[in-house]
Amino acid sequence: MSKFVVWHADFSVGNVSLDEQHKGLFELVNEVWNSRKDCDKKKRQLFKKVLDARRKHCEDEERILARNGYPGLEEHRHEHRKLVKQIQKVLDSCDHDAKKSWYDMMTFLMHELLSRHLVGADMACRDYLRSLPPAAHAIVKVP
Ligand SMILES: [Fe+2]
Ligand SMILES: [Fe+2]
Repeated sequence: MSKFVVWHADFSVGNVSLDEQHKGLFELVNEVWNSRKDCDKKKRQLFKKVLDARRKHCEDEERILARNGYPGLEEHRHEHRKLVKQIQKVLDSCDHDAKKSWYDMMTFLMHELLSRHLVGADMACRDYLRSLPPAAHAIVKVP
């Protein structure tokens, strides 16, 4: 599978579980990139996989941020909801025009999910989690 994007240690939020999920999302971007010639059904299945992974990640990240008293939690939660809605919208459009949906999904993943959120908004969370005293790291795990 050719790599379109590669996770870098600079993107680490200092939490192993969240970093693993972020890496997984980068890999999903690569999967979508490599699916451009797949049939409509396969594309739809993959977009559903992106939606499920993203939902799970949002829930886990929010739980960790809440436990650690992240002051920007509500705003971050709002961003997460918007991202999930956008993925759902592209997934829904897949039934009408899977080829266009593929372009829409790639554009969304690159601009919104990776650039604006994962290496944007999540970095504010990283700075906060890293500012916590070492004892707090014991509770920054996904249950
Ligand atoms: Fe986030
Ligand atoms: Fe995240």
